[in-house]
Amino acid sequence: MSAEDRVAIVTGAARGIGREVSLTLAERGYRIAANDLVAPEATLEGLRSTGVRTLSVPGDVSNEEAVRSMVEAVMEEFGRIDVLVNNAGISAIVPAEETTLADWNRTLAVNLTGPFLMCREFGKTMLDRGSGSIVNVSSVAGLLGISDRAAYNASKHGLVGLTRTLAAEWGGRGVRVNAVCPGWVKTEMDEEDQGAGGYTDADIEGRVPMARFATPEDIARAVAFLADPEHSGFVNGHTLSVDGGWFADGSWESLRRRKQGG
Ligand SMILES: NC(=O)c1ccc[n+]([C@@H]2O[C@H](COP(=O)([O-])OP(=O)(O)OC[C@H]3O[C@@H](n4cnc5c(N)ncnc54)[C@H](O)[C@@H]3O)[C@@H](O)[C@H]2O)c1
Repeated sequence: MSAEDRVAIVTGAARGIGREVSLTLAERGYRIAANDLVAPEATLEGLRSTGVRTLSVPGDVSNEEAVRSMVEAVMEEFGRIDVLVNNAGISAIVPAEETTLADWNRTLAVNLTGPFLMCREFGKTMLDRGSGSIVNVSSVAGLLGISDRAAYNASKHGLVGLTRTLAAEWGGRGVRVNAVCPGWVKTEMDEEDQGAGGYTDADIEGRVPMARFATPEDIARAVAFLADPEHSGFVNGHTLSVDGGWFADGSWESLRRRKQGG
């Protein structure tokens, strides 16, 4: 099947990584259902200019009824779903001992329960057809502990666990489930986190062997690779780091900095 016949839904598509993933998949011919809390107008406008059929499916991914409505809307408009990209997420930077139960619950709800609900509901239609690809956007914080992010990191580690479990459960029925684990990406999320004093550009650049942030395009291309069975048809349950070597690098700081300049 060519990409032109395929349908992808992307959550959190209003900005940042989700917008770039939507546009990248559209440029490759996928028809796109774009989700965010409210209709992602700027993304929809960009999608229309690619000429692909698009659908707006606003709603909170952590709300079971909203997720069911998204499935109904997508099936009514397109009659199928081939690719689900669970990208919507929220950040939470606070010391563990100061993390409120409300913050913990909201972070887990959006970053982990939401993807679970989306996988369960869209996964059913994929299982019925015996094919599909799910890509969960986790983080380097889903693979490593990073201070002051107990809820966020637990949610992203949980998403890796969910990815592996669904890969085991559904792979034999034609549905592949993988994750991308971005390093830090220059998006509004990063701007807001830096604005709140969380860290600086230099902190991140100093930690990454390739000495730069990821771009939304870096992440979108990795998502497109995992989405497409022609490129990744036997890749299932994988966590693809797109982090310039952050996760791989156990070097101590002075050694890493010596190597960064080449
Ligand atoms: N920016 C980074 O450095 C970075 C690094 C690693 C992983 N990630 C992950 O990548 C994903 C996208 O990050 P980003 O930087 O583009 O973030 P962003 O904050 O710029 O965009 C996230 C989008 O998700 C939407 N959203 C939030 N809650 C939602 C909900 N309940 N239902 C539907 N939509 C919702 C927001 O409205 C927003 O448009 C997130 O899951 C994030 O955790 C980001």
